[in-house]
Amino acid sequence: MTTITAAITAVGAYVPEFVLSNQVLETMVDTNDEWITTRTGIKERRLLKEKGKGTSFMAIKAAQDLISKANINPAEIDLVIMATTTADMPVASTGVYVASQIGAVNAFAYDLQAACSSFLYGMSNAAAYIQSGRYKKVLLIGADKMSSIIDYTDRATCIIFGDGAGAVLFEPNYEGLGLQDEYLRSDGIGREYLKIDAGGSILPPSIETVQNRQHYVFQDGKTVFKYAVSGMADVSEKIMERNNLTKDDINWLVAHQANKRIIDATANRMGLDESKVLVNIHRYGNTTSATLPLLLSDFENQLKKGDNLIFAAFGGGFTWGSIYLKWAYNKQ
Ligand code: UT7
Repeated sequence: MTTITAAITAVGAYVPEFVLSNQVLETMVDTNDEWITTRTGIKERRLLKEKGKGTSFMAIKAAQDLISKANINPAEIDLVIMATTTADMPVASTGVYVASQIGAVNAFAYDLQAACSSFLYGMSNAAAYIQSGRYKKVLLIGADKMSSIIDYTDRATCIIFGDGAGAVLFEPNYEGLGLQDEYLRSDGIGREYLKIDAGGSILPPSIETVQNRQHYVFQDGKTVFKYAVSGMADVSEKIMERNNLTKDDINWLVAHQANKRIIDATANRMGLDESKVLVNIHRYGNTTSATLPLLLSDFENQLKKGDNLIFAAFGGGFTWGSIYLKWAYNKQ
């Protein structure tokens, strides 16, 4: 029997037009371009400003970009996995709405929430469905409207995050390309350091929670930074060891774009030259579930069939992990 592997066969993306630069942030909070650039690597981020438009708006655009570029019939999609931390609404699945809007009329859909690791965990989900032989086309979308949960008077968080969306299609592969191995982790110790206190079942929203600004993201940046640096480097090293990969075997590091210093530390531990490290944090900031597919979209031209990609992410929860994937196509 031929082994089925799960390969990424198409990529799509969308970012909103509105650009929030470091220079404009300087006029909003007590910060400056030099601090943001040296501490994070971010120069600007995109924000979805139009009233009434949520995460689904960007997710639909990214999925439609993929569908038109890959020229696929959306009715053939079996499953839509919507990786997001900023669902359109607390109840009513965003993925289900997105699937209907893109014409994936024969698909079922659901949301997957694992903070900044949502897309990475989604890759694991999507690949498992394909490898089992159960489904043939799984659309994985990562999208977040972080601007909807960020306090633009809090300089500790508002300089970091941005909005965006990306999508990939997973399909069966019979040449051994696609997902090779994964090492996914989580630890509830992280809950106190990166969270939104109000709006959930512990502290439902009220006038007080809004007045206390508890509906916004809180982050103890220094602590998260410490865990992220060791977490992302550890799992990436582990996946290299487990698959007998040396630094020369790896073509690309596709790392969550939270902070350039975290990406550099991971690349260093892996012994990778910076030419192998995909980076676009300067343009989008941290788009949470969208960072990994936005990298694939921006660098799709450079990825070659058979290339070894190491994905790595770290996020709230804590959630983190690494995935080893062989790229399956050359862009036409
Ligand atoms: O994606 C999910 C996971 N999230 C992450 O991976 C984020 C991890 N954390 C980080 O990326 C970094 O911790 C931050 C970028 C959030 C902060 O950088 P840092 O180097 O850890 O700064 P810090 O919080 O230790 O603050 C250093 C100094 C402080 O001043 P003092 O106490 O040294 O006088 C802050 O008050 O920088 C000050 N500061 C700022 N200054 C200008 C904090 N934020 C700002 C700011 N502009 N925006």
